[in-house]
Amino acid sequence: MTKDTTLLLNSGNIMPVFGLGTWQLTKDTAETIAYAISLGHPLIDTSSDYGTQPGIGNGLRKSGVPRDKVYIVTKVEETDDAYQRTKANLEELDIDYVDLTLIHRPPPQGAGETLWKDLIRAREEGLTKDIGVSNYSIDLIDKLIANSGDIPAVNQIEWSPFGHSDEMLKYCNAKRIVIQAYSPLTRTKRLDDKTLKELAEKYGVTSAQILLRWNLQMGTVPIPKANQKRHLDENINVFDFELESKDMEKLSNLNEEYSSLGSLPYVEPPHLASNIFR
Ligand SMILES: NC(=O)c1ccc[n+]([C@@H]2O[C@H](COP(=O)([O-])OP(=O)(O)OC[C@H]3O[C@@H](n4cnc5c(N)ncnc54)[C@H](OP(=O)(O)O)[C@@H]3O)[C@@H](O)[C@H]2O)c1
Repeated sequence: MTKDTTLLLNSGNIMPVFGLGTWQLTKDTAETIAYAISLGHPLIDTSSDYGTQPGIGNGLRKSGVPRDKVYIVTKVEETDDAYQRTKANLEELDIDYVDLTLIHRPPPQGAGETLWKDLIRAREEGLTKDIGVSNYSIDLIDKLIANSGDIPAVNQIEWSPFGHSDEMLKYCNAKRIVIQAYSPLTRTKRLDDKTLKELAEKYGVTSAQILLRWNLQMGTVPIPKANQKRHLDENINVFDFELESKDMEKLSNLNEEYSSLGSLPYVEPPHLASNIFR
């Protein structure tokens, strides 16, 4: 696996195995994005409510890398007209299409059937190549599929050794839905964990790199956010070591359904957590 490795989506399109998150990356966004792209970050994650879309568009142009060499993910909010919001996202980013648009979180009622229908229209018109969901439980994905016959390409959820779900992984693998792992570094809160530190020492890397590598070897796509250059350098440098299967297991066994946001929305009823995840 290299930073240029891709995964085949259930739509037939491909998606990079690794990306950059941009929530709160509002300081020097364009410079940071251009630098991240120059290092080879193949995917950028954003959302209509992050305030980073104009900076990402500028960073992309500043980098000089062709549009089709960087995979752009954005989102619509549960209160949006998803079709209009997709158009507005393109205007903010100042690009012709995005690669993937996600429903940011399920609405308080239902599974977001109207949002989904509008995203299907946006995809048919080429505004977004793929569509998916975020913070969805198995039950809600099933409802969306039953209503539309259209399977999301991705479910973006909080995912780390400290908080993950075998049931969700099995379900997504069976439906060929890719899990994008947000807050893969636990927002730094668990970087001092003893097991992580032991493994970091064993492999001669950092705790953050162990967390990212665990995701890559799980087949889930980590999208760590980093503003600092040294973090960007470190995070992309995870393709030259491999965790032994016993260490993968040790890491997976750290699971305590931990969430840096309070609760895992795909484990807890989503409406209880709908105000906290970004
Ligand atoms: N769909 C959703 O509801 C949802 C929810 C949350 C997040 N997300 C997406 O997922 C992305 C990532 O999640 P996140 O921002 O919540 O948390 P995260 O990526 O787990 O953690 C980000 C924090 O880790 C630090 N960091 C980065 N690399 C590091 C390294 N190598 N060593 C030590 N610290 C490091 C960053 O510092 P610096 O910035 O100072 O470098 C920042 O403080 C978001 O930016 C967003 O794109 C989506």
